[in-house]
Amino acid sequence: MNGSARGVRWLVVADVAELHRTACRYIIEAAERAIQQRGEFAIVLAGGNTPRGVYRLLRAERSDWSRWSVYFGDERCLSPDDVERNSKMAADEWLEHVPIPKQRVHIIPAELGATAAALAYADTLRGVGEFDFVLLGLGEDGHTASLFPRHDWGSAPDAPDVLAVFDSPKPPPQRVSLSAARLSRAREVLFLVAGESKREAIARWRAGEQLPASAISAVARADVLIESNLLKARAD
Ligand code: 6PG
Repeated sequence: MNGSARGVRWLVVADVAELHRTACRYIIEAAERAIQQRGEFAIVLAGGNTPRGVYRLLRAERSDWSRWSVYFGDERCLSPDDVERNSKMAADEWLEHVPIPKQRVHIIPAELGATAAALAYADTLRGVGEFDFVLLGLGEDGHTASLFPRHDWGSAPDAPDVLAVFDSPKPPPQRVSLSAARLSRAREVLFLVAGESKREAIARWRAGEQLPASAISAVARADVLIESNLLKARAD
């Protein structure tokens, strides 16, 4: 698998507000296309803080929400109502405010612990085909979802769909993540990258270092929405 970033489209935005607006438009347009062509739209959500503003904008959008299916790319092993849960953030900012049928929102039951939750979510994904849209972030150390550099991130084509993670460098240590192979089975992948702390990770990705993001973008069509300053030489 080629680790370079050659196949990636870098979509440069001025600031975080533009990043949120652009991502929101991308998602809504992808949903319209999918619903028109196939009658439904399956999206995988990112965790972390960067998508918060996107979720807030999505809740004000119009869409045929009854046709959406929502999955999560990763989850932190915490109680369901912990504010650090990715599912809680998405619910508070967006999902509870739009009429997506509850049974179509597929939360990772991470409160069960990483092993049991990974098994349960693998069951949930059984029979689910290609995702229409996968939204991802990028961590300071180059991780994406809960796939960390120098760990096994499941990029082999026969890798399991869901991985139990026990030694995440970003807290909490126990997490559940879709593998790179499963995240790559998508019509579109969109990475959201904002903030000075991501500068080094971006430089490593663009230099061709093998990172979870490069493994995914080597297989799937990937766009990266990125603040313009992160592609320029540091000002100081
Ligand atoms: C998580 C994530 C993780 C996140 C990045 C970026 O649950 O921690 O899914 O991969 O997307 O760490 O996080 P920020 O957007 O907060 O920088």
